[in-house]
Amino acid sequence: MKHKLDQLQKEFESVLSRVTDRAALEALKNAFLGRKGKLKLLLKEVASLADEERKTIGAIANEVKEAFEVAYGKKERELGTRESGEQREREWMDITEPGRAPREGHLHLTSQAMEEITAIFSRIGFESVRAPEIDWDYYVFESLNMPADHPARDDWETFFVDLPESKKGKMVLTPHTSNSQVRLMEQVKPPIRMININRTYRRQMDITHIPMFHQFEGLLIDKGVAVTHLKGVLDYFALAFFGGGRKTRLRPHHFRFTEPSFEVDISCGVCGGNESGACRLCKGGWLELGGAGMVHPRVLEAGGVDPSVYSGFAFGWGVERTLMMREGIKIDDIRILYKNDLRFVTQF
Ligand code: PHE
Repeated sequence: MKHKLDQLQKEFESVLSRVTDRAALEALKNAFLGRKGKLKLLLKEVASLADEERKTIGAIANEVKEAFEVAYGKKERELGTRESGEQREREWMDITEPGRAPREGHLHLTSQAMEEITAIFSRIGFESVRAPEIDWDYYVFESLNMPADHPARDDWETFFVDLPESKKGKMVLTPHTSNSQVRLMEQVKPPIRMININRTYRRQMDITHIPMFHQFEGLLIDKGVAVTHLKGVLDYFALAFFGGGRKTRLRPHHFRFTEPSFEVDISCGVCGGNESGACRLCKGGWLELGGAGMVHPRVLEAGGVDPSVYSGFAFGWGVERTLMMREGIKIDDIRILYKNDLRFVTQF
């Protein structure tokens, strides 16, 4: 019996020494220590021995059993540390290594310009608001002193939306951002200082026009507002957006919703404002930016503002056009902005 136990111990040890993974260790445990394992069977035999012998052999058998368990436990720990070591090796990473940056997109040139324009005006207290980009005829024309069938409307080559009319007329794709004027006056009492940037639409397409473009509209209403204030704000913007040395000029013009009305020019960034006509870009020192003027009393009235108490100015310019007049941009066809050509877009 003792011999059998010795044999079993040797067998156990030799199998154990060849165990290299958990599955094999588990199989070994079942084969030797399990319910029908070799050691269990042997222990059963011990039970049938004569008293005296059973004591001594039983003691030895127990030692063997304990030895098995100890050896098993040791192997188990060994495998455990080895496996976690291997896992660590496999999953090792150097957290001090600089990361690989994902490819990032960026805002479109026009969006960048809009953010910049908003920021420039916010510094002098112009709050950013948003009027609808599809709006009623009333806000786009009628309330701006352009009654139905007025020929001045022809200047805005408007897309009308094929929807039932309301009391405020037809729906149109806004051809300018001036619809924000009366809309805002209906909502807030003066003093008003707002900037509205939005998409605008006109039926036109060539190297300087696209059917969808953007405008920014400024409106300031307060007591005692004069043209000098308008000029000051425009000069401030020109300096902030175009940089030092550029000047603005107001040229008399006509809009139904401002009186007096102006076209705003900026001195040419290429020739520095050479009025001799020698510059190929501006042919006279100035580039046209957009419209402006003192808000017409009828427009104030339409917005519920008393023109005998308040006055104000408004201006509305194209974002793309303003952008193209920036030095160094050199875009000679406005349509390239929206062609989705990455070679162009990623330059900015
Ligand atoms: N809405 C005018 C346009 O689109 C520009 C403008 C805005 C003129 C505000 C005067 C005052 O041409």
